[in-house]
Amino acid sequence: MTVGENPATSYGAYPARRLRRLRRTPALRRMTAETRLAPADLIAPLFVREGITEPEPVASMPGVVQHTIASLLVEAKRLVDLGVPALLLFGVPSRKDAVGSGASDPDGICQVALRALRGAVGDDLVLIPDLCLDEYTDHGHCGILDRYGAVDNDATLERYREVAIAQASAGADLVAPSGMMDGQVGAIRDALDTEGHVGTGILAYAAKYASSFYGPFREAVDVEIAGGGDRRSHQQDPANAREALVEVALDVAEGADIVMVKPALPYLDVLAAVRDAVSVPIAAYQVSGEYAMLAFAAERGVLDREQAAFETLTSIKRAGADLIVSYLAAEVAEILTSHPRR
Ligand code: PBG
Repeated sequence: MTVGENPATSYGAYPARRLRRLRRTPALRRMTAETRLAPADLIAPLFVREGITEPEPVASMPGVVQHTIASLLVEAKRLVDLGVPALLLFGVPSRKDAVGSGASDPDGICQVALRALRGAVGDDLVLIPDLCLDEYTDHGHCGILDRYGAVDNDATLERYREVAIAQASAGADLVAPSGMMDGQVGAIRDALDTEGHVGTGILAYAAKYASSFYGPFREAVDVEIAGGGDRRSHQQDPANAREALVEVALDVAEGADIVMVKPALPYLDVLAAVRDAVSVPIAAYQVSGEYAMLAFAAERGVLDREQAAFETLTSIKRAGADLIVSYLAAEVAEILTSHPRR
């Protein structure tokens, strides 16, 4: 090559196009980033436990607690200040029974917490109660059992209708059915409309897999599935991706306002396929086991917690999620708001 020749022109063995130019400085990388995380992308899952006077740490999820009503309200106000738009609420009752009565009791922990939250933050936070029975049943299943001990789909739908009405009456903006019963979105939409809650929406756990990554969550909500059972008869087989599109299409047809894929990181292919298939907002749930892997690895010094948090959440957004439910929500929003160049 002679002096003055255009270096962008291919010359012998040297590459003409140099992608490294745009990666050279943090400012160049920031300017050309295709995906940006913002506090508004995040939904914080929170646990509230009946009958405790101090927040209770969840040992399987370092940094996560079961809240009292009082500490829940403090955390909710913090989310508002950080620009996180929504929380997903799980109630942990002090009494459980075969039909999960506490889930639909107007004075059940979730309903009490929803009313307190609405009083504390008004409409500044979107309140989304998880709609399921497993936290409230003494057998730990997500529904009513038939006489053979199997989860009875249609009897469970009747209970979900009652839970939806209780949650909507207590002030839920959206309810989030997570039990993977067939027809649950349609049944809940019908119940809400019949009772005049036409403005209450549904965030449907649409493609929810039977996953080992829910392990730590069971401690957070004090759930033990009777007889060492599992949820494979209703949650999806991890082997199946096309089936997720059937689930999602049904939920949208039944009236889901937002559809969710869960877990997130092991199912990014499913998330991308769902993104291509529907135009409603899509959420992804970075579940307890995904959080625990990251938190424990960081505790042991083998991963950088902040970098791993941003990498995983950015990847989930890149794959197609509009919203991400994550136990890292407040922490990441805190970093984003205090370091605007992050
Ligand atoms: C069911 C429910 C589960 C999770 C959210 N809703 C547990 C399950 O399906 O067994 C898991 C959330 C997590 O692991 O973070 N109510």
